[in-house]
Amino acid sequence: MTAVANGPIAGSVPSGRRVVLENISQCYTTDSGDTVHAVSDTSITVESGEFVCIVGPSGCGKSTLMDMLAGFLTPTQGTVTIGGERISGPGQDRGVVFQQPNLYPWLSVRKNVELGLKLRKIPASVRRDEAKRYLEMVGLEQFMDRKPYELSGGMQQRCQIARVLANDPEIILMDEPFGALDALTRERMQVELLQIWRKRKKTVFFITHSVEEAIFLGTRVLVMSARPGRIILDETINISDENGSPLGAELRSAPEFVRLRDKVSTAIYEAQGVTGMSPAQH
Ligand SMILES: Nc1ncnc2c1ncn2[C@@H]1O[C@H](COP(=O)(O)OP(=O)(O)O)[C@@H](O)[C@H]1O
Ligand SMILES: [Mg+2]
Repeated sequence: MTAVANGPIAGSVPSGRRVVLENISQCYTTDSGDTVHAVSDTSITVESGEFVCIVGPSGCGKSTLMDMLAGFLTPTQGTVTIGGERISGPGQDRGVVFQQPNLYPWLSVRKNVELGLKLRKIPASVRRDEAKRYLEMVGLEQFMDRKPYELSGGMQQRCQIARVLANDPEIILMDEPFGALDALTRERMQVELLQIWRKRKKTVFFITHSVEEAIFLGTRVLVMSARPGRIILDETINISDENGSPLGAELRSAPEFVRLRDKVSTAIYEAQGVTGMSPAQH
Protein backbone atom coordinates (compact mmCIF):
# COMPACT_ATOMS: atom_id res chain seq x y z
CA MET A 1 0.00 0.00 0.00
CA THR A 2 1.18 3.50 -0.72
CA ALA A 3 1.59 5.83 2.24
CA VAL A 4 -1.60 7.38 3.53
CA ALA A 5 -1.00 10.94 2.41
CA ASN A 6 -4.33 12.45 3.32
CA GLY A 7 -5.71 12.85 6.77
CA PRO A 8 -9.31 11.84 7.38
CA ILE A 9 -11.68 13.55 4.98
CA ALA A 10 -13.29 16.72 6.30
CA GLY A 11 -16.64 15.91 7.83
CA SER A 12 -15.52 12.62 9.38
CA VAL A 13 -16.77 11.97 12.88
CA PRO A 14 -14.10 12.86 15.46
CA SER A 15 -12.25 9.88 16.90
CA GLY A 16 -11.44 8.96 20.46
CA ARG A 17 -14.74 7.60 21.73
CA ARG A 18 -15.09 4.58 23.98
CA VAL A 19 -17.52 1.80 23.04
CA VAL A 20 -19.40 0.24 25.96
CA LEU A 21 -21.72 -2.75 25.83
CA GLU A 22 -23.48 -3.05 29.13
CA ASN A 23 -25.33 -6.21 30.15
CA ILE A 24 -26.39 -6.91 26.59
CA SER A 25 -28.78 -9.75 25.81
CA GLN A 26 -30.53 -10.65 22.59
CA CYS A 27 -33.45 -13.05 22.17
CA TYR A 28 -34.99 -13.88 18.81
CA THR A 29 -38.50 -15.15 18.32
CA THR A 30 -38.61 -17.65 15.47
CA ASP A 31 -41.46 -17.96 12.95
CA SER A 32 -42.75 -20.95 14.93
CA GLY A 33 -42.86 -18.85 18.10
CA ASP A 34 -39.80 -20.33 19.83
CA THR A 35 -37.39 -18.07 21.67
CA VAL A 36 -33.70 -18.27 20.76
CA HIS A 37 -31.45 -16.73 23.39
CA ALA A 38 -28.51 -15.69 21.19
CA VAL A 39 -26.43 -13.41 23.44
CA SER A 40 -26.55 -13.39 27.22
CA ASP A 41 -25.67 -10.64 29.66
CA THR A 42 -22.50 -9.48 27.96
CA SER A 43 -20.50 -6.43 29.02
CA ILE A 44 -17.49 -5.16 27.07
CA THR A 45 -15.63 -1.85 27.26
CA VAL A 46 -13.45 -1.01 24.28
CA GLU A 47 -11.18 2.02 24.18
CA SER A 48 -10.71 4.04 21.02
CA GLY A 49 -8.10 2.46 18.75
CA GLU A 50 -8.39 -1.08 20.09
CA PHE A 51 -8.49 -3.93 17.56
CA VAL A 52 -10.87 -6.45 19.09
CA CYS A 53 -11.18 -9.90 17.54
CA ILE A 54 -14.14 -12.07 18.46
CA VAL A 55 -13.99 -15.86 18.12
CA GLY A 56 -16.32 -18.62 19.25
CA PRO A 57 -18.26 -21.67 18.08
CA SER A 58 -20.66 -21.39 15.12
CA GLY A 59 -24.03 -20.02 16.13
CA CYS A 60 -22.79 -18.60 19.45
CA GLY A 61 -24.06 -15.09 18.75
CA LYS A 62 -21.05 -13.33 17.20
CA SER A 63 -22.99 -11.83 14.28
CA THR A 64 -25.81 -10.94 16.65
CA LEU A 65 -23.35 -9.00 18.82
CA MET A 66 -22.03 -7.23 15.72
CA ASP A 67 -25.57 -6.38 14.56
CA MET A 68 -26.23 -4.72 17.92
CA LEU A 69 -23.01 -2.70 17.62
CA ALA A 70 -23.94 -1.72 14.07
CA GLY A 71 -27.37 -0.62 15.28
CA PHE A 72 -29.24 -3.06 13.03
CA LEU A 73 -30.65 -4.80 16.10
CA THR A 74 -31.75 -3.27 19.39
CA PRO A 75 -30.63 -5.36 22.38
CA THR A 76 -33.46 -7.15 24.16
CA GLN A 77 -31.72 -6.03 27.34
CA GLY A 78 -28.83 -3.68 28.05
CA THR A 79 -27.32 -0.76 26.19
CA VAL A 80 -24.64 0.01 23.61
CA THR A 81 -23.05 3.43 24.02
CA ILE A 82 -20.39 5.15 21.94
CA GLY A 83 -18.70 8.07 23.67
CA GLY A 84 -21.38 7.87 26.36
CA GLU A 85 -24.24 8.22 23.86
CA ARG A 86 -26.67 5.38 23.46
CA ILE A 87 -26.87 4.25 19.84
CA SER A 88 -30.32 4.15 18.30
CA GLY A 89 -29.55 2.73 14.86
CA PRO A 90 -26.86 2.54 12.19
CA GLY A 91 -24.63 5.59 11.79
CA GLN A 92 -21.85 7.00 9.63
CA ASP A 93 -19.47 6.61 12.56
CA ARG A 94 -19.59 2.83 11.99
CA GLY A 95 -18.64 0.99 8.80
CA VAL A 96 -19.76 -2.61 8.42
CA VAL A 97 -18.07 -5.28 6.31
CA PHE A 98 -20.48 -8.19 5.96
CA GLN A 99 -19.69 -11.87 5.55
CA GLN A 100 -21.06 -11.74 2.00
CA PRO A 101 -20.21 -8.99 -0.50
CA ASN A 102 -23.14 -6.57 -0.81
CA LEU A 103 -22.23 -4.41 -3.79
CA TYR A 104 -24.75 -2.53 -5.92
CA PRO A 105 -24.84 -4.59 -9.11
CA TRP A 106 -25.70 -1.67 -11.38
CA LEU A 107 -22.70 0.41 -10.29
CA SER A 108 -19.11 -0.09 -11.39
CA VAL A 109 -16.54 -1.21 -8.84
CA ARG A 110 -15.23 2.37 -8.59
CA LYS A 111 -18.69 3.86 -8.17
CA ASN A 112 -19.50 1.32 -5.47
CA VAL A 113 -16.45 2.51 -3.55
CA GLU A 114 -17.27 6.18 -4.18
CA LEU A 115 -20.91 5.92 -3.13
CA GLY A 116 -20.56 6.77 0.56
CA LEU A 117 -18.33 9.74 -0.28
CA LYS A 118 -20.85 10.94 -2.86
CA LEU A 119 -23.66 10.79 -0.30
CA ARG A 120 -21.48 12.95 1.94
CA LYS A 121 -21.07 15.40 -0.94
CA ILE A 122 -17.30 14.94 -1.19
CA PRO A 123 -16.14 16.58 -4.48
CA ALA A 124 -15.85 14.24 -7.48
CA SER A 125 -12.07 14.60 -7.87
CA VAL A 126 -11.44 13.72 -4.21
CA ARG A 127 -13.86 10.80 -4.47
CA ARG A 128 -12.05 9.43 -7.48
CA ASP A 129 -8.65 9.68 -5.79
CA GLU A 130 -9.88 8.03 -2.59
CA ALA A 131 -11.61 5.21 -4.49
CA LYS A 132 -8.50 4.62 -6.58
CA ARG A 133 -6.26 4.56 -3.51
CA TYR A 134 -8.34 1.95 -1.69
CA LEU A 135 -8.94 -0.12 -4.82
CA GLU A 136 -5.17 -0.19 -5.39
CA MET A 137 -4.74 -1.26 -1.80
CA VAL A 138 -7.01 -4.28 -2.26
CA GLY A 139 -5.49 -5.08 -5.66
CA LEU A 140 -8.50 -4.15 -7.80
CA GLU A 141 -7.14 -1.16 -9.70
CA GLN A 142 -7.41 -3.11 -12.98
CA PHE A 143 -11.09 -3.75 -12.34
CA MET A 144 -12.31 -0.27 -11.43
CA ASP A 145 -14.65 0.07 -14.40
CA ARG A 146 -16.06 -3.46 -14.22
CA LYS A 147 -19.42 -4.39 -12.75
CA PRO A 148 -19.53 -6.59 -9.63
CA TYR A 149 -20.82 -9.63 -11.56
CA GLU A 150 -17.57 -9.64 -13.56
CA LEU A 151 -15.59 -10.20 -10.35
CA SER A 152 -15.05 -13.39 -8.35
CA GLY A 153 -16.60 -13.62 -4.88
CA GLY A 154 -13.26 -12.89 -3.23
CA MET A 155 -12.72 -9.82 -5.43
CA GLN A 156 -16.21 -8.54 -4.61
CA GLN A 157 -15.37 -8.95 -0.95
CA ARG A 158 -12.18 -6.92 -1.41
CA CYS A 159 -14.27 -4.24 -3.12
CA GLN A 160 -16.66 -4.17 -0.16
CA ILE A 161 -13.69 -3.69 2.17
CA ALA A 162 -12.36 -0.85 0.00
CA ARG A 163 -15.78 0.80 0.10
CA VAL A 164 -15.97 0.72 3.88
CA LEU A 165 -12.37 1.93 4.33
CA ALA A 166 -12.91 4.78 1.83
CA ASN A 167 -15.74 6.06 4.01
CA ASP A 168 -13.19 6.45 6.80
CA PRO A 169 -15.53 5.46 9.66
CA GLU A 170 -14.39 5.86 13.25
CA ILE A 171 -15.35 2.27 14.07
CA ILE A 172 -14.98 -0.64 11.64
CA LEU A 173 -17.16 -3.71 12.18
CA MET A 174 -16.05 -6.78 10.23
CA ASP A 175 -17.94 -10.07 10.30
CA GLU A 176 -15.67 -12.83 8.99
CA PRO A 177 -14.59 -10.55 6.14
CA PHE A 178 -11.77 -12.72 4.83
CA GLY A 179 -13.60 -16.06 4.99
CA ALA A 180 -14.09 -16.29 1.23
CA LEU A 181 -10.53 -15.33 0.26
CA ASP A 182 -7.79 -17.74 -0.75
CA ALA A 183 -5.00 -18.19 1.80
CA LEU A 184 -2.45 -15.87 0.21
CA THR A 185 -4.92 -13.05 -0.48
CA ARG A 186 -6.20 -13.43 3.05
CA GLU A 187 -2.73 -12.99 4.55
CA ARG A 188 -2.12 -9.96 2.32
CA MET A 189 -5.42 -8.41 3.36
CA GLN A 190 -4.58 -9.02 7.03
CA VAL A 191 -1.32 -7.13 6.62
CA GLU A 192 -3.01 -4.28 4.70
CA LEU A 193 -5.72 -3.98 7.32
CA LEU A 194 -3.11 -3.83 10.10
CA GLN A 195 -1.24 -1.10 8.23
CA ILE A 196 -4.41 0.96 7.88
CA TRP A 197 -5.31 0.43 11.51
CA ARG A 198 -1.81 1.51 12.63
CA LYS A 199 -1.93 4.66 10.51
CA ARG A 200 -5.52 5.68 11.18
CA LYS A 201 -5.98 4.28 14.70
CA LYS A 202 -9.49 3.02 14.07
CA THR A 203 -11.46 1.03 16.58
CA VAL A 204 -12.00 -2.36 14.96
CA PHE A 205 -14.33 -5.23 15.88
CA PHE A 206 -13.40 -8.26 13.81
CA ILE A 207 -15.18 -11.62 13.88
CA THR A 208 -13.25 -14.61 12.61
CA HIS A 209 -13.22 -18.39 12.76
CA SER A 210 -9.44 -18.40 12.63
CA VAL A 211 -7.65 -18.23 15.98
CA GLU A 212 -4.40 -17.40 14.19
CA GLU A 213 -6.04 -14.52 12.35
CA ALA A 214 -7.47 -13.20 15.62
CA ILE A 215 -4.10 -13.25 17.38
CA PHE A 216 -2.23 -11.87 14.38
CA LEU A 217 -4.60 -8.92 13.99
CA GLY A 218 -5.99 -8.19 17.43
CA THR A 219 -4.78 -6.16 20.37
CA ARG A 220 -7.41 -8.12 22.23
CA VAL A 221 -9.18 -11.41 21.60
CA LEU A 222 -12.61 -12.18 23.04
CA VAL A 223 -13.79 -15.79 23.10
CA MET A 224 -17.55 -16.37 23.24
CA SER A 225 -19.20 -19.42 24.76
CA ALA A 226 -21.69 -21.60 22.90
CA ARG A 227 -25.20 -20.10 22.68
CA PRO A 228 -26.35 -18.12 24.55
CA GLY A 229 -23.08 -16.37 23.88
CA ARG A 230 -21.16 -14.58 26.60
CA ILE A 231 -17.49 -13.68 26.91
CA ILE A 232 -15.48 -16.50 28.50
CA LEU A 233 -11.97 -15.24 27.72
CA ASP A 234 -10.74 -11.67 27.27
CA GLU A 235 -7.08 -11.85 26.30
CA THR A 236 -4.81 -8.88 25.66
CA ILE A 237 -2.41 -9.56 22.82
CA ASN A 238 0.99 -8.02 23.22
CA ILE A 239 3.11 -9.13 20.33
CA SER A 240 4.36 -7.11 17.42
CA ASP A 241 6.13 -7.75 14.16
CA GLU A 242 8.15 -4.54 14.08
CA ASN A 243 10.98 -6.26 12.19
CA GLY A 244 8.87 -9.05 10.76
CA SER A 245 8.55 -10.56 7.29
CA PRO A 246 6.00 -9.14 4.82
CA LEU A 247 3.24 -11.56 5.79
CA GLY A 248 4.22 -11.81 9.44
CA ALA A 249 5.49 -15.37 9.00
CA GLU A 250 8.09 -14.99 11.76
CA LEU A 251 5.52 -13.60 14.15
CA ARG A 252 3.12 -16.45 13.48
CA SER A 253 5.72 -18.99 14.62
CA ALA A 254 7.01 -17.02 17.64
CA PRO A 255 6.70 -18.83 21.02
CA GLU A 256 4.34 -16.17 22.46
CA PHE A 257 2.11 -16.46 19.38
CA VAL A 258 1.95 -20.25 19.75
CA ARG A 259 1.20 -19.94 23.49
CA LEU A 260 -1.69 -17.55 22.84
CA ARG A 261 -3.01 -19.69 20.00
CA ASP A 262 -3.15 -22.73 22.29
CA LYS A 263 -4.81 -20.75 25.10
CA VAL A 264 -7.52 -19.30 22.83
CA SER A 265 -8.07 -22.62 21.01
CA THR A 266 -8.47 -24.43 24.32
CA ALA A 267 -11.08 -21.87 25.45
CA ILE A 268 -13.04 -22.43 22.22
CA TYR A 269 -12.93 -26.20 22.58
CA GLU A 270 -14.10 -25.89 26.16
CA ALA A 271 -16.88 -23.55 25.00
CA GLN A 272 -18.06 -26.33 22.71
CA GLY A 273 -18.08 -28.74 25.62
CA VAL A 274 -14.93 -30.54 24.50
CA THR A 275 -12.54 -30.83 27.44
CA GLY A 276 -9.48 -32.80 28.29
CA MET A 277 -7.96 -32.67 24.82
CA SER A 278 -5.29 -30.34 23.60
CA PRO A 279 -6.08 -28.46 20.39
CA ALA A 280 -3.37 -30.48 18.64
CA GLN A 281 -5.41 -33.66 19.18
CA HIS A 282 -8.36 -32.36 17.17
N1 LIG B 1 -33.26 -13.60 12.92
C1 LIG B 1 -33.11 -14.69 13.68
N2 LIG B 1 -34.18 -15.36 14.16
C2 LIG B 1 -34.04 -16.45 14.93
N3 LIG B 1 -32.84 -16.95 15.32
C3 LIG B 1 -31.74 -16.32 14.87
C4 LIG B 1 -31.82 -15.17 14.03
N4 LIG B 1 -30.55 -14.76 13.76
C5 LIG B 1 -29.74 -15.63 14.39
N5 LIG B 1 -30.45 -16.56 15.05
C6 LIG B 1 -29.90 -17.65 15.88
O1 LIG B 1 -29.15 -17.04 16.93
C7 LIG B 1 -27.98 -17.79 17.18
C8 LIG B 1 -26.76 -16.90 17.01
O2 LIG B 1 -26.63 -16.56 15.64
P1 LIG B 1 -25.40 -15.73 15.07
O3 LIG B 1 -25.30 -14.48 15.85
O4 LIG B 1 -25.59 -15.61 13.61
O5 LIG B 1 -24.16 -16.68 15.43
P2 LIG B 1 -22.65 -16.70 14.88
O6 LIG B 1 -22.44 -15.46 14.08
O7 LIG B 1 -21.81 -16.80 16.10
O8 LIG B 1 -22.51 -17.95 14.04
C9 LIG B 1 -28.01 -18.98 16.24
O9 LIG B 1 -28.54 -20.07 16.93
C10 LIG B 1 -28.93 -18.53 15.13
O10 LIG B 1 -29.58 -19.63 14.54
MG1 LIG C 1 -21.92 -15.17 12.08
